[in-house]
Amino acid sequence: MRIDIITVLPELLESPFSHSILKRASQKGLLQVNLINLRDYAINKYGTVDDYQYGGGAGMVLMCEPLAKCIDKLETERDYDDVIYMTPDGTPFNQKMANTLSLKQNFIVICGHYKGIDERIRQLYVTREISIGDYVLSGGELAAAVFADALGRLLPGVLNDETSALSDSFQDSLLAPPVYTRPENFRGLKVPDILLSGHEAKIKDWRYEQALERTKQRRPDLLNEE
Ligand code: ADE
Repeated sequence: MRIDIITVLPELLESPFSHSILKRASQKGLLQVNLINLRDYAINKYGTVDDYQYGGGAGMVLMCEPLAKCIDKLETERDYDDVIYMTPDGTPFNQKMANTLSLKQNFIVICGHYKGIDERIRQLYVTREISIGDYVLSGGELAAAVFADALGRLLPGVLNDETSALSDSFQDSLLAPPVYTRPENFRGLKVPDILLSGHEAKIKDWRYEQALERTKQRRPDLLNEE
C-alpha cells in the first residue's frame, strides 16, 4: 500500500511513521508513506499556498492551484483508489472503513490547515472525506496519521501474529476483553484463574463473555449495529 500525504507540515508527520509497527511495515515494503510538502507547489517563490477567504472571516484557506498542481503530478505517476480529504465534516472513520480501505492500493491524503481547503478542490479531486471524530484538530496531519496507522497495521505481514488484529476491539463489533501479564498477583489483585488453567476452549468462552459484558456496559450502541 502506498499513502501519499499532502501537507504544509511534513515535519509533524515524520515521527509517527518512523517507529514500531509502521516502521516495520515500511522496512518490509508493505506500506510506503510519502510526505509531500505542499509548499513545493506554491504559487510564488515565497512559498504561498493559502489566502484569505472570500466573503471575509478569520482564517486562511489552502488555495486551489498548489493542491491541483500537486495532485495532477501524482496522478500522472500512478492510479489512485481515492483522493481523501481529512476533515471534521467527513464520514466518521471506524474499524469497518479501515478494514475495507486496507484492501486498496494507493491513496492521496490531503491535510487541511487553518480554515481548510478551497471547496473547488473538494468538488474536482476529492473522492472521499473522512473525519476521525467530532472535534476539531488544528490540521489534518494527526488525522492522516491515525488513518495510515489504522490501515497499515491491517496489511498482511505487518503484525507479527496475524490473528492479533482480528481480536482487536471493534473487529467483531465488540470491545476487547481485559488482558493480563506477569505477575499473577499485583497488590492483591489476582489474574482470573481461568487464564491460568491452560484450558483453551474455556479461555475463549471467558474472553467472549468479558468482551460482551464490557461492550454492554461501555458501548451498548455497538451491539445494535449489524
Ligand atoms: N481536521 C481537523 N479536524 C479533523 C477531524 N476531526 N477529522 C479529520 N480531519 C480533521
